[in-house]
Amino acid sequence: MNDSYAKGLLGHSTAGEHERLLLLEKLCDPGTIRILERLPLTRSWTCVDVGAGTGSVARWLADRCPEGQITATDLDTRFLESMPRPDNLAVSQQDVTTTDFPANSLDLVHARAVLTHLPYPEIVVQRMSSWLKPGGWLVIEDPSYLPAQASPYPDFAALLLACEKLLAQTHGTDNSWARRIPRVMAEARLTNLKMSAELSACGRDELEDAYWRQCFSQAIPALMTSGLMTEQQINRAIEHLDQPEFTDIAWMMVSCWGQRQ
Ligand SMILES: C[S@@+](CC[C@H](N)C(=O)[O-])C[C@H]1O[C@@H](n2cnc3c(N)ncnc32)[C@H](O)[C@@H]1O
Repeated sequence: MNDSYAKGLLGHSTAGEHERLLLLEKLCDPGTIRILERLPLTRSWTCVDVGAGTGSVARWLADRCPEGQITATDLDTRFLESMPRPDNLAVSQQDVTTTDFPANSLDLVHARAVLTHLPYPEIVVQRMSSWLKPGGWLVIEDPSYLPAQASPYPDFAALLLACEKLLAQTHGTDNSWARRIPRVMAEARLTNLKMSAELSACGRDELEDAYWRQCFSQAIPALMTSGLMTEQQINRAIEHLDQPEFTDIAWMMVSCWGQRQ
């Protein structure tokens, strides 16, 4: 297993990571499903969800492609193994940077919030494109945190910036990746490229706040031990979430999809 992800802040053994991923899927699935519904999905498509996390997208695909075959892959499959799943949904422990599916074998490859954490995402896009049948679709979604410094709440800006630095230090997460996706997909000779973006804001609704509170609480010990923030600074930033007038854009989920020629 790729140790750096597994041992980092977002590793599946980290306390609260299962809850965070369940909140992430609730937050992001409606946007992902809107995109998947724009594709010419048939009942017999063969699909792979890379870095499937807790498996909700793979389960949705299995439901929509009952005569097809769906594979949910992840570096760490513990949350996938425990989910109820139909016969057309397989779980496979794989590192997308080192393993392959046969060339020209898939109708759809989807990866959400995965490539931003990988060291050479461009190579992974090339690799995933090669798995597609001619006419098959690649859907890549990754968050962009916008410039954290631009937040009009300085305490909150400091927290977002510190989280970004922490993810870069512990996982190699690259916040600039999302902006490069369209170019990299074009370079992989994918056509019919389409894009969309969904904002996630703090202080807007209960689900979003629950997600962000979970992220921050998971990060607190590492933020303090790494010296990126003191406890008082963190508390001042998080207190914003209790103020009814507070709202701030936290990220933008950038989604791009394209078709193999
Ligand atoms: C932030 S989570 C996103 C989970 C899910 N895609 C979602 O959006 O709900 C990232 C997932 O990618 C997996 N992952 C990280 N590096 C990976 C790699 N090299 N190969 C396969 N999966 C990986 C992690 O284990 C984790 O489940």
